Amino acid sequence: MTADKSLIVAQGLTKTYTAKSGDVMAVKGIDFKVMPGTCTGLLGPNGAGKSTTMGMLMGLTRPTEGTLTIFGTPTSELTREQRVRISLVPQEDNLDPDLTVSENLFVYGLFFGIARSVLKDRVPQLLDYMQLTEKSGARVSQLSGGMKRRLTIARALINDPDLLILDEPTTGLDPQARVLIWQRLLELKKTGKTLLLTTHYMDEAQRLCDQIIMIDHGDILDEGTPRQLIKKHVPGHVFDMTKPIPKNLPLYEQEDVGDSVLFYVNDEDAVAFRKAIPEKATYLHRPANLEDVFLRLTGRRIRE
Ligand SMILES: Nc1ncnc2c1ncn2[C@@H]1O[C@H](COP(=O)(O)OP(=O)(O)OP(=O)(O)O)[C@@H](O)[C@H]1O
Ligand SMILES: [Mg+2]
Repeated sequence: MTADKSLIVAQGLTKTYTAKSGDVMAVKGIDFKVMPGTCTGLLGPNGAGKSTTMGMLMGLTRPTEGTLTIFGTPTSELTREQRVRISLVPQEDNLDPDLTVSENLFVYGLFFGIARSVLKDRVPQLLDYMQLTEKSGARVSQLSGGMKRRLTIARALINDPDLLILDEPTTGLDPQARVLIWQRLLELKKTGKTLLLTTHYMDEAQRLCDQIIMIDHGDILDEGTPRQLIKKHVPGHVFDMTKPIPKNLPLYEQEDVGDSVLFYVNDEDAVAFRKAIPEKATYLHRPANLEDVFLRLTGRRIRE
């Protein structure tokens, strides 16, 4: 028998919040593993239980039931040496607004027990890495939302962690900043770091993640590589046909999405389907993607 090399192992992981209005079972006995040097995406609609799972990994929230280990050690028993190998980019920024950009990194580094002499080099390097050098003397309260997000990621790297947990790292960022963060995360993965992230951008998950775990209402719906999930859950081609829909189109699974109808067509039939579309019809033909899988598994209803 070979030893389990997983960096994270969750078994029967459960979290029930007790509130006056009634108990909320946010995570319902989930099992998953994360291998070192990979990027795992935890995807799910609002309220699915993603942040709660991350909170349990960080030791910020205690599991109600089940086991959760990181580096083979239960999260409640991690040593200080092990804890400093884990970093979190929280969903909501918790930077110190009264300190400057570089002071935020410095103070955080000192908290991790990193020597001032080391920080003197590392802080400017990280600011450069996240393209924040020009802002190093600015107060956090003077930064834009996207700059704060980049600073939070820089801060999470101050201790050179082996495991980086990122809760919606690119929410609210402009395309330039998102691309920068994608590049950085892929570079970090190449250096052997393990990434666990949540995102509501399916293109981002498809680009970055080796493994996707889809969750909803605290349960795992499915998991696999992006390619495996797409292959398993959706026919390969999507024809997004603008209304009015031409008559006499071949019959395929379809979904009304407002001003257009999506036709899901398998690989073998895609060419024939396209030929059957009248010339004056307006449509977009694209490969099936992770967003199709997400909507199929979790439905289109908006979460309250
Ligand atoms: N401190 C808390 N007390 C009570 N209920 C909570 C608490 N934190 C979260 N919940 C509830 O637990 C469920 C899961 O919340 P969680 O924050 O983990 O979702 P999420 O998947 O991160 O969603 P989002 O995409 O909106 O960030 C929700 O029903 C939420 O209302
Ligand atoms: Mg969340």
